[in-house]
Formats: sequence, C-alpha cells, structure tokens
Amino acid sequence: MCGIVGYLGEKEATPILIEGLERLEYRGYDSAGIAVSVEDEIDVVKKAGKLKVLKEAISENPPAGKVGIGHTRWATHGSPSDLNSHPHSDCTGDFVIVHNGIIENFQQLKDELVDKGHSFRSETDTEVIAHLIEENYQGKLREAVLKVARMLEGSYALAILSKREPGKIIAIRRDSPLIVGIGEDENYIASDIPAFLQYTNQFYILDDEELAEVTRDNISLYDAAGNRIEKDVFVVNWDAEMAEKGGYEHFMLKEIHEEPDAIRRVLSNRVTPGNVDLSEINLSSEEIRNYDKIHIVACGTASYAGIMGKYVIEELVRMPVEVDIASEFRYRQPLIDENSLVIVVSQSGETADTLASLRLAQKKGAKVLAFTNVTGSSIAREADEVLYLQAGPEIAVASTKAYINMVVAFYILALYLAKVRSTVTEDRLYELIEEVLRLPKLATETIEKSLELVKERARVYKLQDNAFFIGRNIDFALSLEGALKLKEISYIHAEAYPAGELKHGPLALIEDGVPVVAIATRLSLYDKMLSNIKEVKARGADVLAITFEGETEVEKSVDHVIYIPRINELFSGALAIIPMHLLAYYTSLERGYDVDQPRNLAKSVTVE
Ligand code: G6P
Repeated sequence: MCGIVGYLGEKEATPILIEGLERLEYRGYDSAGIAVSVEDEIDVVKKAGKLKVLKEAISENPPAGKVGIGHTRWATHGSPSDLNSHPHSDCTGDFVIVHNGIIENFQQLKDELVDKGHSFRSETDTEVIAHLIEENYQGKLREAVLKVARMLEGSYALAILSKREPGKIIAIRRDSPLIVGIGEDENYIASDIPAFLQYTNQFYILDDEELAEVTRDNISLYDAAGNRIEKDVFVVNWDAEMAEKGGYEHFMLKEIHEEPDAIRRVLSNRVTPGNVDLSEINLSSEEIRNYDKIHIVACGTASYAGIMGKYVIEELVRMPVEVDIASEFRYRQPLIDENSLVIVVSQSGETADTLASLRLAQKKGAKVLAFTNVTGSSIAREADEVLYLQAGPEIAVASTKAYINMVVAFYILALYLAKVRSTVTEDRLYELIEEVLRLPKLATETIEKSLELVKERARVYKLQDNAFFIGRNIDFALSLEGALKLKEISYIHAEAYPAGELKHGPLALIEDGVPVVAIATRLSLYDKMLSNIKEVKARGADVLAITFEGETEVEKSVDHVIYIPRINELFSGALAIIPMHLLAYYTSLERGYDVDQPRNLAKSVTVE
C-alpha cells in the first residue's frame, strides 16, 4: 500500500521511476506521481488513477533529469485526486516529498503551520512534512529531516528531494518499509525489492528511524540521533524474471500454478523421509513442553491459514490454540504470558496490525514466532524466531501460493511440536510425514484435474450475486479462504459458514440457482456434510462439491463434483483450496475485472 521509488544516476530518471512504480503496483494504489530534478529545478507531475494516466500525462514532455522520486498512493487522508497525489511540496516548492504511512498528529501540526503562515494545497497528512522541513531547514537537509521526524507521530517512509541540495535524496522510515538499492554510479530507493531487482540485487534495508543520504555515487546511513552507522548489505537471490508473469495472463494465475513448487520449497530441509526438523527456529524442547497455549494472530487470508493451523495443531499436539484477527487482538487485552507461544502470520511481513500485535505479545513476555514470506521485512526482523514461507515473490493482491505455504508451515510446525511433546506415536509420525511429502506432486495433479470443470463453473458463477461456501472442521477453515478469494476479486458476495450452522440463518437465503461450494474432505464428518448438502439442495441451490477421489456417494446429492487426490484428511486443505483459488480467478476473468489488482484492496496494508 503506497509505493515509493527513487533514482539517482547517469540515466534519465523518468522511465526508471515509472518502471519501478509498475513493479510496485501489486501494493495497491489509486493515484501516482513523480518528481524529477535538473540542477535547481524540480518538475512534478501527478495524476489520480492508474499509472497509465500518469504515463499519458508525461508522454509528450517527460520530466527531464537524472534524479527523481515517484509514488503510488493508496488514499487515506483525502480523496484520490490529482491534488492529493504525491509528491507534495512546501510553500516555496523547494522541498518535494513522497510518503507512505499515516501521520497521526497531522491536524495539530497543520494548525500550527497555518498559524505561522503556511498555505496548504492538499487534504493529505503528508503535506505537513514538506512544510515542516521548510520551517526547520537551516542549511542541511539531513538535519532538518531528522528534526522533523522527531515531531511526527505515526508511521512513515519518506523520500525527499530539495532544490537547495540538488543531486541528493534523503530517505527515512518508521513502521513503513524502505530500502536503498546499491548500483554502480547509480543508486535506488524503494518500498520493496522487486522495484529495482532488474538493476541490482544488493540493498540496504533501513530499520526504524534510520536515515539514508543518497547521491548517485554515495550512500551514507545515520541513526535517529544523526550518528553515522554501518549496515550489512542485503543480497537478494531472486532474479528479475522470477518476479515477472512468466507467460501467464495474470500474476495470480502464475502464482496458482507455482503452488506445487512453493510447497516443495517450504518443505525442503524441514520435512524429510522419517523426520521433521525445525532446528532453524530457536525453540528448545523444554520451552515447547512448557507452553500451555498457542495464539495465532494475523489478518485476511493469513488469519484463515491460522484457523487451519488451529485445527491441525489441536488435533496432533493436543494443545489449546486461539486464533485472532490482529486488529482485534491488539485491543482486547489478550491473556498471554511467557508460557504462551504467539505465532504471527504475514505474507508481506509489513501488515501494521500484525506488527503491532507482535510487539504487544513481546511486551507481555511471550516469545513470537513469525511465518512470513519476505526476508528483511519488519515482522521478520522484530519476531524472536522466523519460519520463512519461501513461496517466492507474490505479486497479485489476492494471496494464493503464500496462503498454501502458510497452511503447510502449520503442518510442519504441528508435526514438530507433536514429535517434541510425544503426542503421536513414532509410527504415526512417520506415516504423517510420508503424507505431507506427497503434497507437491498431488498439488500438480489437483490443478490438472480440476481446471476444466472450474472454467465451466466460472462461466455460470459470473452471473451470480451471492455464493456460499460450507464445510466442517478443516473444511470450514477452507471455506473461509474460498469465500474470501471469490469476493476479493470477482466482487460476488460470498459467505463462508460452518455447514452445521446453516439452519441458524443462511438457509433463509438459499433459493433456486444460488451457488454453494460444499467442501467434504473430513471423512469422519462426511455423512454429516451429506445431510447439510441435502438441506441446501432441497432449497434449489446449485451445489459444487469438493471431495476425495472415490467418494462418489456425494454425486447423488450435488450438481458437480471436483475430486482431489486422496491424502491423509488432516492435510487435504493444501489441495482442496487449489480449485477454489482457480474458481475465484476464472470467475473474475469472466466478469472482466482487474484480477491482480482488485478495487479498494492493497497487497501490503501498512496502515492501521
Ligand atoms: C491484505 C491483502 C490480503 C492479505 C492481508 C494480510 O488485505 O490484500 O491478501 O491476506 O492483507 O497480509 P499479510 O501480508 O500480513 O499476509
């Protein structure tokens, strides 16, 4: 959410900034702008809408210059208009800034600045920062920025250009990500690594309150007190192509097809025939035996992976697990202490509420284990221990392969905890490990076998306004994810319900033709699911069942069945979700929507 780029070098900045912004589109945005400086002039162009609109605006007369900053904005304070788009500047136009985050005390700061005679052009919180720099500049931009940063409450990643000190960008952050890319005779600033991965794989990752003073041939780093600091260079092994669409029409489709490989990666070195090993996370056997409760905290898709984790851990490890949405957890005074293990789950590693929950849990004395996909992310750096999801870069806003790897990470953790706490026999553990190792191959089969029916169903679903997803136990956890995916990208109202709960409300909404996706992989509850399916069928629903190969009994009661390969039913989730990811994708495609960037949503939600 909000993307920042910056460039200083020998080339024209404008095309490089635009390209960098395009690579950050996944973060979600509703307006965009750039500022390019030549000697002591700064040319600013900014437009509401997608980057296409900005590109059209600059096509005839692109800003010339070899130093510049750019921004994609996801509106918080003020509508997504040209005026509210970034970059913003002070009264004189000497200081030009882009910002990601929210300045919580902006109104008070604005009132004070207005009293001092500053005039504002936008409704944004960001603009106060430019005026504060103007007010506090005394010949050194770096010092003015550090001083202003101390006045700000809230979160920020900032890139700042100034006519007074041309050829330089100041970058600083607190609670919003910012990195500096290291090139030869050129340097880069960005919110995230893919922005400039085609130019460099070496980065400095700024920590909270750190500042970078960047010119085309130098990068100096400072702490909040203004002292020079040294940092390790972070070397990234992804190549630029890995972040591209690889021949698929959309990132989401590519990412669904990468699910088998993603599962292979998360398992590798952790689950091997006969063994599960998580020595990479520093949890002693004694700690594991002493925990009396696990709390899983996350947002969105990650929270649904957490619900799956709860079912699997409780069943295998016989330990109570609570799952919380992070924005609830942080304000509910949770009962946790040093005997609780807190697991935060976040694809991006930057979700503001999840990060705040992590900090709260640590404050209460709990150890925090993070599942995240992004090395060097805030959550990865602040958690006590990290289990990397290794799904590879995920660009589509709707998470698919990262969700599956979160689920598989919970399988791995559950097996490991069960081993240490001896809650399953050695033989059973051996069998379960064998099953988990089959997942990558079976995931490929699942895609191949479900594709045609999913495409056909999508042509029917595209005409619907409502859909229901039902299941019991882990199938209910899956139905939450299936419904979320459909609503996020096809804008069809989709609700997930525990199948046994239907008659307490949603049954009233079932009428002729209403689509119901019924997930029935929990074989111990299969007969109960069949009864629930009959309840909706009797009221005219159009039922699509998802179950294991060989479970043909269901055919008598439903309209269509997707069969997934047989596996131990505890681990069916990593397979059964695949047709639901595909269904959401193809339904959105049929409806003609922007699959990778659904309206109003952002990939990385770095504000509360
Ligand atoms: C946003 C994204 C979702 C994601 C959620 C949590 O809402 O659109 O796809 O599930 O944030 O993100 P995280 O990066 O913490 O997993």
